[in-house]
Amino acid sequence: MPKHILRLIVLIFGLLVVAVIGKELLTDKSFYRFGHYRADSVPEIAAQIPVLQTAASCQECHAERFEKWSVAKHKTVTCENCHGAALGHPQKIAKLPIPTDAVKLCTRCHEALTGRPDTQPQVEVPKHNKGRQCVACHNPHVPEE
Ligand code: HEC
Ligand code: HEC
Ligand code: HEC
Ligand code: HEC
Repeated sequence: MPKHILRLIVLIFGLLVVAVIGKELLTDKSFYRFGHYRADSVPEIAAQIPVLQTAASCQECHAERFEKWSVAKHKTVTCENCHGAALGHPQKIAKLPIPTDAVKLCTRCHEALTGRPDTQPQVEVPKHNKGRQCVACHNPHVPEE
């Protein structure tokens, strides 16, 4: 066999050995337990604490606002959509932010856009708002008021 072919075979064989050893060493022990994924990742992900606490969690302390919001048109827009993630409130974060720039917040959903569904009321902001904050006229918790 010519020398250069022999070298090539030795090289390929060498790489194969490295690959097999590497796979043995680097594959997590739980990898094939249930299938082609790392079984340990499932309890790891399940143990994470969600940053969003849901609107129901606000009810006990902000009862009055919750009652009004839960029957109003914004009931599909959860509290944390506007006030940010509530993990740690009120224990660590005494107060959740109150959105100061309502124009920025409200136009996220209400700026007239082609392709936005008609079920989502839309306004042409420059014409509708005339530079005022939306909450000057609209109650963010009960927008139909
Ligand atoms: C265990 C009780 C509790 C829960 C649950 C709770 N809050 Fe609060 N929240 C408070 C207290 C107490 C304050 C401080 C009130 C104050 O100083 O006027 C506060 C303040 C706030 C403020 C700021 C009000 C202001 O005047 O600055 C916002 C916004 C807020 N909470 C939103 C929420 C939202 C949204 C949820 C649910 C995801 C929630 N809170 C859940 C007790 C709670
Ligand atoms: C569509 C956005 C939006 C949603 C949804 C929303 N908020 Fe608010 N919230 C605001 C804005 C904007 C303000 C400030 C109002 C203002 O400046 O007049 C505010 C103010 C507040 C305040 C304190 C200031 C005040 O007016 O007394 C609390 C507390 C609060 N929200 C709690 C909640 C809770 C609890 C929910 C869910 C049940 C909720 N919010 C849902 C936008 C929202
Ligand atoms: C995450 C999306 C979202 C955000 C943010 C949001 N809205 Fe809405 N809003 C909606 C949807 C969806 C509806 C329609 C609900 C329905 O009719 O069932 C609605 C309805 C309304 C309506 C119509 C009420 C009526 O009479 O039919 C007004 C006014 C309104 N929102 C104002 C605001 C204002 C002001 C803000 C900011 C403080 C805001 N919205 C933020 C999604 C949003
Ligand atoms: C000067 C008061 C005022 C301000 C400021 C204002 N609105 Fe309105 N808005 C109204 C009135 C009045 C109506 C109901 C009559 C109409 O449809 O024009 C309305 C209606 C709406 C509707 C419902 C439209 C529909 O088709 O049902 C939406 C959505 C809305 N406003 C969003 C906003 C947003 C977002 C802002 C801030 C960028 C804002 N508004 C600022 C007075 C105001």
